[in-house]
Amino acid sequence: MKNKVRKAVIPVAGLGTRLLPATKVVPKELLPIVDTPAIQVIIEEVLASGIEEVILVTGRGKGAIEDHFDHSYELEDVLERRGQTDQLDSVRRISGLVRAVSVRQKFPLGLGHAVLCAKDAVGDEPFAVLLPDDIISSSTPCTRQLIDVFEKYNEGVVSLLRVPETDVDRYGIALGENWAPRLHRIRTLIEKPTREQAPSNLAIIGRYVLPAKIFDFLEETAAGADGEIQLTDALQRLARDRALIGYEFEGERHDIGDKLGFLKCNIRTALLNKEIGPQLRAYLRTMVE
Ligand code: UTP
Repeated sequence: MKNKVRKAVIPVAGLGTRLLPATKVVPKELLPIVDTPAIQVIIEEVLASGIEEVILVTGRGKGAIEDHFDHSYELEDVLERRGQTDQLDSVRRISGLVRAVSVRQKFPLGLGHAVLCAKDAVGDEPFAVLLPDDIISSSTPCTRQLIDVFEKYNEGVVSLLRVPETDVDRYGIALGENWAPRLHRIRTLIEKPTREQAPSNLAIIGRYVLPAKIFDFLEETAAGADGEIQLTDALQRLARDRALIGYEFEGERHDIGDKLGFLKCNIRTALLNKEIGPQLRAYLRTMVE
């Protein structure tokens, strides 16, 4: 089927400056959500959405991300000899989890440039993009929700979330017509507008399903806001020359590239964890009294 989404691009080449010094050596994508690196949470969403192949866009100092999904023979050998079967199973499961290829972004020239680096690996077919900064918990995986919209309308889809007006300058902001529940036909997109410039409070979040045509627009995109090649600028072309759907996804999203968002995501996940949740809840109570 021509509009079947089989591939996911995951850009992990950014510098993660908001979480320094933690991210000086350790890629932010490997920072844990309780006991699971953020990138693994993202890969689980990819797989649960029915996608078979992952393209990681990596950069300098990000090799440990690829290692995380590789076999670790020494570790597996030690765990086997010690009879630590639960840990052994969890480590082995990760290495069998996904078929991934890596492409290199030599300089962090922006998200649009990172996606363009995946052009040859994607080829002439639609693909999903997941930004590992955004962790989304939902009953249907967010990427699956977007794929369902894409397969129905056969046009690019971006995830939308209403944000407080005070936060619009942190996002790409969309304006369009709301033609069905959760669905918008996008007319205009502005990257990181001021409060006065913002055409709405509908922010683009880090999940997309895009046609291969986006690569043509990315190739023609010059550096924009922050001196970076912005995906938002190429999406604006797509909206104007073809069509772009905005979809208000169902789910709760945390921006773990930000200190507060990272902590909130960890606390929420830990509270839901059977092993440590009840004790953490009791501990938090003692802190607010
Ligand atoms: P961000 O701008 O949120 O991430 O990019 P960052 O640059 O790593 O973090 P800060 O803002 O300095 O703290 C969103 C996503 O795009 C990737 C990042 O890795 C992140 O997943 N990205 C960004 C690239 O792969 N390459 C780039 O040039 C820029």
